[in-house]
This record gives sequence, C-alpha cells and structure tokens, in this order.
Amino acid sequence: MRESKGTVAITGGGGYVGSVLVPDLLDAGYRVKVLDLFLYGDKIFDRYSSEDGLVCIKGDVRDPSALDDVFFGTDAVIHLACISNDPSFELNPALGKSINLDAFGLILDALERSSVRRFIYASSSSVYGLRGELDVTEKSPTTPLTDYSRFKLECEYKLQEWNNSTGVIWTIVRPATVCGYARRLRLDLTVNILTIHALENQKIKIFGGKQLRPNIHINDMSRVYRLLLDADKESLRRQVFNAGYQNDTVENIAMKVKTVIGDEKIELEYVPSADTRSYHVNSEKIKCQLGFEAQCTIEDAIRGLTDAYRQGLIQDGLENPLYHNIKRMQELVLQ
Ligand SMILES: NC(=O)c1ccc[n+]([C@@H]2O[C@H](COP(=O)([O-])OP(=O)(O)OC[C@H]3O[C@@H](n4cnc5c(N)ncnc54)[C@H](O)[C@@H]3O)[C@@H](O)[C@H]2O)c1
Repeated sequence: MRESKGTVAITGGGGYVGSVLVPDLLDAGYRVKVLDLFLYGDKIFDRYSSEDGLVCIKGDVRDPSALDDVFFGTDAVIHLACISNDPSFELNPALGKSINLDAFGLILDALERSSVRRFIYASSSSVYGLRGELDVTEKSPTTPLTDYSRFKLECEYKLQEWNNSTGVIWTIVRPATVCGYARRLRLDLTVNILTIHALENQKIKIFGGKQLRPNIHINDMSRVYRLLLDADKESLRRQVFNAGYQNDTVENIAMKVKTVIGDEKIELEYVPSADTRSYHVNSEKIKCQLGFEAQCTIEDAIRGLTDAYRQGLIQDGLENPLYHNIKRMQELVLQ
C-alpha cells in the first residue's frame, strides 16, 4: 500500500476541472474519492483504479446518503459539482437551484456528521458582475447578474453563516474563466470557444471585443486547489481568494488564437454586441498569502487545444454535446 497524504473527496470531480485535478492529486500522493453524476461521461478515469487510490461513486450531491458515503473517512472536501454555466442553469432553473443552492445545505449538514477537517468551495469570479474598476479584489462589492452567479454567492453566505460545531476550516475560491485542454473538455468557455471556432471554421466571430475577461489555465487551476490542500490551516480559515491570471480583451484573445494556430486564413469577424460585461480580477491576495504564481499563459492553453485537435483528440468540437454543457443538459433532461 503506498503512503498517502490523506483522503480528498471531490464532488463534481468528473467535470472539466476535476478531470485534471483528480489525476494531479493522485500523482501528489492523495487518495481521492469522486462523487459525480458523470453527466459528461464516466470513462475519464479509466486508467486509474482503487490501487492508485481512486474511488469513483456515481451519485448525486442532493442525496444525503451519497454524501455520507463519500465523506466517511475523508480529510478534505473540494466542492465542484454544479450546473456550471448560465445557459444550462436557465434551461431548468428549478433543477439548477436544487443542485447549485439547496444541495449546499445538505453538504454542510453532511460535513457536520463527518471526519472532514477542510472544505474548499468553488465559487466564481462572476459573483462580481459588471464592475467599472480595473482591479476587482475580494473586498469589491458583489453584484451577480444571473441566477447561476447569485446562487454561487448565496452559497458563500451560507458558509459565512454556518454554525460549524466541528471545526471544519473552510475556504472560498472565486476562479476566473478556465482555459486549456482536459480529458473532459469544455468548449463553451471563452478561450476554448474561440480556439475551436478557428480550428474548425477558420473564422472567429468576435461579439463586441473590448470586454475584459479574466482567465486561468486549467493546470494552474488544479495547482490552486492543491495549494489550498497543502497550506497551513490558519492561512485558509474563512478566507476568500480570487484565482485568475491574465485579464485580456476578447479581441486580444482572438488575435492570440490566430497567432498561435499560425494560419493566415483565419478570419476575425466583428459582430456588434449589447453584452458589454467587462471585468478585471485581481489575484494578488492568493499570491501574497499562499505564494500562488500562475505558470501557464493563454497562449499555452491555445497551444494545448490545438495540439489535441491535431492529434484527433477533439471530435466534432462545435457540436459534440460532451463539450458543450447546454447541449448535454438539453439531451439529458435531468430531474
Ligand atoms: N470552468 C470554469 O471556467 C469555472 C470558472 C469559475 C468557477 N467554476 C466552478 O468550478 C466548478 C467546476 O467547473 P467545471 O468547469 O469543471 O464544470 P463541469 O460542468 O465540467 O463539472 C461539473 C461536474 O458536476 C457534476 N454534477 C452536476 N450536477 C451534479 C449532481 N447533482 N451531483 C453530482 N455531480 C453533479 C457534473 O456531472 C460534472 O461532472 C463549478 O462549480 C464551476 O461553477 C468553473
């Protein structure tokens, strides 16, 4: 039996972020339990087994007995499970609320019944909404614009108000938009969408273009969670951390896509847009307090996606429901 750094349970670990984080944690010496409905496929961790320290449980975060099973004997929990974008949420708001908000209370109750000592909650930088200032810090006001973002924030409030009798140390992460290739891939996120359009159509439609968007490479996102598991508990207690790296305009990202792919034929088409949402996330706190330094750029993400595409690892990138949460949710009709 190999030596372990402890057991981490990840809800929603079968998703985009989890598909990189879970193998990284196993490599780092953790035992990992994943609780997921595996909405986007259940073959992601095929090459791992319980011998490697991985247990996958197909179950729902709305089911208290599934939560008890996965939290039993667990040291830390990372809560990623979610209907994780606006269109998928709006497809069925009652379903979205039951998973993104109501289940959160069940998770806190299950934590109280468990041996878990550390809880990390994946919120979102979208809780800030539309902000005029250039640098949005953790102290900036929050004005979420959609129900998805509003419920992310309401879960944060639930944590702040949690009358936690067991001494669980909790931390909130507000990630920027994640980019780059992963085994379970999302192609409905800014950098990834622009890249797949350039590769499939040799054309990128830029809606507006001047809006600033914060980004973080998926490998760095995984490093953030690993850092939070390793950090001493006092630096994490009741903390909120932005987690982003390069803030860039949509137009600049499109130009980077064209440059990295290196195909002169890629056309940039500008489309007027009423969507002026623009924000710039400051991630100095996580750097100063926990020493987090991003290592991968937007260009690295585009390069990774392009390499994967050229190796045939991305099939039917524009239409495949497994890469587009809204298409998959339409197909599944989950209750
Ligand atoms: N990807 C980003 O750009 C980004 C940015 C900010 C915040 N986040 C947050 O990070 C987390 C992970 O994001 P992601 O991109 O990996 O999302 P994802 O949609 O790829 O993964 C979510 C996972 O949750 C699972 N799930 C959904 N409902 C469930 C339920 N009821 N019970 C159990 N499992 C369930 C899905 O099967 C999926 O595997 C989410 O909470 C998301 O809101 C992501």
